[in-house]
Amino acid sequence: MTGHPGDITSPLPLPSDAAIAVIGAGTMGSGIASVAAAAGHPVLLYDADPAALERGIALIAGNLDRLVERRKIDAAERDSRLKRIKAVSRPGDLAPAKLVIEAIVEDLDIKAALLGEVESAVGADAIVATNTSSLSVTALAARLRRPDRVVGMHFFNPAPVLPLVEVVSGHVTGRDVADTIFATAKAWGKIPVHCRSTPGFIVNRVARPYYGEALRLVAERAAAPAAIDAVLCEAGGFRMGPFDLMDLIGHDVNFTVTRSVYDALFQDPRYRPSLVQKDLVDAGLLGRKSGRGFYDYRDGAEKPAPALAPDGPRPEKVVFEGDLGVAGPLLDLARTAGLSVETRSGDGVIRIDGVRLALTDGRTATARAADGDGRTVLFDLALDYQAASRMCLAAADQAGPDAAAGAAGFFQALGKAVLVIDDAPGLIVMRTLAMLANEAADAVHHGIGTVEDVDLAMLKGVNYPRGPLAWAEAVGLPQIVAVLDNLADVYGEDRYRTSPLLRRRALAARPFHSITGSGT
Ligand code: NAI
Repeated sequence: MTGHPGDITSPLPLPSDAAIAVIGAGTMGSGIASVAAAAGHPVLLYDADPAALERGIALIAGNLDRLVERRKIDAAERDSRLKRIKAVSRPGDLAPAKLVIEAIVEDLDIKAALLGEVESAVGADAIVATNTSSLSVTALAARLRRPDRVVGMHFFNPAPVLPLVEVVSGHVTGRDVADTIFATAKAWGKIPVHCRSTPGFIVNRVARPYYGEALRLVAERAAAPAAIDAVLCEAGGFRMGPFDLMDLIGHDVNFTVTRSVYDALFQDPRYRPSLVQKDLVDAGLLGRKSGRGFYDYRDGAEKPAPALAPDGPRPEKVVFEGDLGVAGPLLDLARTAGLSVETRSGDGVIRIDGVRLALTDGRTATARAADGDGRTVLFDLALDYQAASRMCLAAADQAGPDAAAGAAGFFQALGKAVLVIDDAPGLIVMRTLAMLANEAADAVHHGIGTVEDVDLAMLKGVNYPRGPLAWAEAVGLPQIVAVLDNLADVYGEDRYRTSPLLRRRALAARPFHSITGSGT
């Protein structure tokens, strides 16, 4: 098989005078046409619906006008870009194209029928690319006469703005074909990654737990959507919380992607959709576009504020016992806050007035308190403990109300807003990261993408604050594996099974990023 992720390549892009055909002048097609024209290519834009074609051209012109207004380009550049895009009315008109990018309705039969027609019009050296998000590139290619020249070129919406392009190789895609598309995307100012055609490719597969675990926490009534969104943004460093994001994407769309990945992976429980989301779809609460989703967007409605723990007592003395690992910066923060701090050897916990405070390891606080230290409170992972403006805590069922108050008082003294949630294993940020890193490791394990490309895809495709694998390494791979093992133990579900590659790397103390380019 050719076109493997991880192969060493020295590709050349298509020359800028090569004609690019874009089929489908909707949201994605118009954006892609605009990107190709900006790179200097003559573009042939075709849509079966003349009105859609007209709308697509108008959309491109409007966006170029805005670039002129914002002084990103001058009027002459706008005019020459627009002039390079020619609307055509028949598939046969696409004959001069060296690259065809299809962005029509997400239906394998319709795509195959159209590309079959286009295939006979274009030259033998033309590449046929699809922008599909969820269909198998292998299956689409198999329906055409020359499957070796068929490749996925998966842009993200809005295509002119988002830099990532997943270059998706089907089973028989030629390596030269994938390489040329990779180099061409780069020449167009994009950040391409190679990946293999599998359900969800890299981004839509690795990102599933960002929604799935959040939905699960709500289903278990551990915390409200607004609280989870706030913790993932303010402690986790994510740009947008999962509930905000699902409301923006639309629950119909997000639920369909989740279902399609789940079904395409033969109902692997790791990707199981949530009844909480299905309920919203059933109720027609699709998010911003319908006025309501998890949040209410109707006139006069206010977004609920995340719950805040009441002010707890400022601790008189804080004892740091042993190495707190990734939470180590709390020691400096406590000193800077002027707290009376003592350090001694121990198991990496903080003791405040008889309360034992520890970073979550995926067990519940209640389970950890069962060793006799009933007054146990767990805190969540933060991307950066100094920058985090919010901290999430969970107290053991045995702990009594003043334990959580004491722990809250400590973090409040460090200037953090505090949220106390129900005793959910792994809390919010740690659980999310562990599951994202697990997906990312499995994507590498299955050769879907390289370590570098998987992390890069999540950074550039969905704006994560760190690549999941690099972040997991910063926390410690053994710690991440412990979180997953403990989640599996609490739930007894295959959903939380640890990727074999993640476990191996943790056991061998061999981080992912030490093996640049090898694919595993
Ligand atoms: P859209 O509905 O905005 O545009 C699709 C266009 O294709 C319409 O103008 C329609 O008239 C045209 N069309 C439909 N059947 C056709 C045919 N047989 N021949 C010629 N034109 C035809 O859809 P959108 O959102 O632009 O999606 C297009 C493709 O891009 C889909 O495969 C989708 O999965 C993929 N995609 C969508 C993303 C998004 O966020 N909307 C992101 C990345 C990929």
